[in-house]
Amino acid sequence: MSEIAGNVTVLDHPLIQHKLTIMRNKETSIAGFRRLLREIAHLMCYEVTRDLKLELIDIETPMAPMKSPAIKGKKLVFASILRAGNGLLDGMLDLVPAARVAHIGMYRDHETLEPVEYYFKAPSSLEDRLIIVVDPMLATANSATVAVEKLKQVGATDIRFLCLLAAPEGVKHFTEVHPDVPVFTAAIDSHLNESGYIIPGLGDAGDRMYGTK
Ligand code: PRP
Ligand code: URA
Repeated sequence: MSEIAGNVTVLDHPLIQHKLTIMRNKETSIAGFRRLLREIAHLMCYEVTRDLKLELIDIETPMAPMKSPAIKGKKLVFASILRAGNGLLDGMLDLVPAARVAHIGMYRDHETLEPVEYYFKAPSSLEDRLIIVVDPMLATANSATVAVEKLKQVGATDIRFLCLLAAPEGVKHFTEVHPDVPVFTAAIDSHLNESGYIIPGLGDAGDRMYGTK
């Protein structure tokens, strides 16, 4: 893990970097892309949750009673920015199957690059929970900033943002609007092109996951 600025961490584990390289390759199949995103989500979930607090709980093994560590507090919430966020969400849920899930439906208008919202559903008691927002791509950060704002409006206070790839422009925008939300990413690429795509990036994450255009 390397921290590039106060609130931005690049997850530079070799397995994450290796899998990301295969995902970037335009020859990688839809099935391969989906499987790799799920596998990377496992590795990223491990890193983004490594400082969770534990408490000792009483259990009985087949041999003896004992106090054993368990994650403290209310269940985690994973908030997926649809559609592509669901690729990361699936892997996160493999590791934390009891997590609650928020769905935030939005897509970028290709002309304005502003998010168009179409769905929002979140669990209750967000104020007492850690919320990890997932979306593979942080480009202009217009989608992520609005998604986090909506979560804050319904009570969320403890939020982390997890993505696969970020553009420097998106990191700057997001951290200016939400300085209280730590960002975790596997890479920060060179720049955005005139159409708002991350360069070199990996193309359109949703299209590559679902075989759309
Ligand atoms: C992609 C991606 C992010 C957004 C990032 O979604 O998954 O949500 O673009 O771009 P931004 O940082 O400039 O807002 P898209 O709008 O293509 O929708 P999809 O997931 O439904 O394909
Ligand atoms: N959304 C994507 O899926 N890819 C990009 O490069 C930018 C936004």
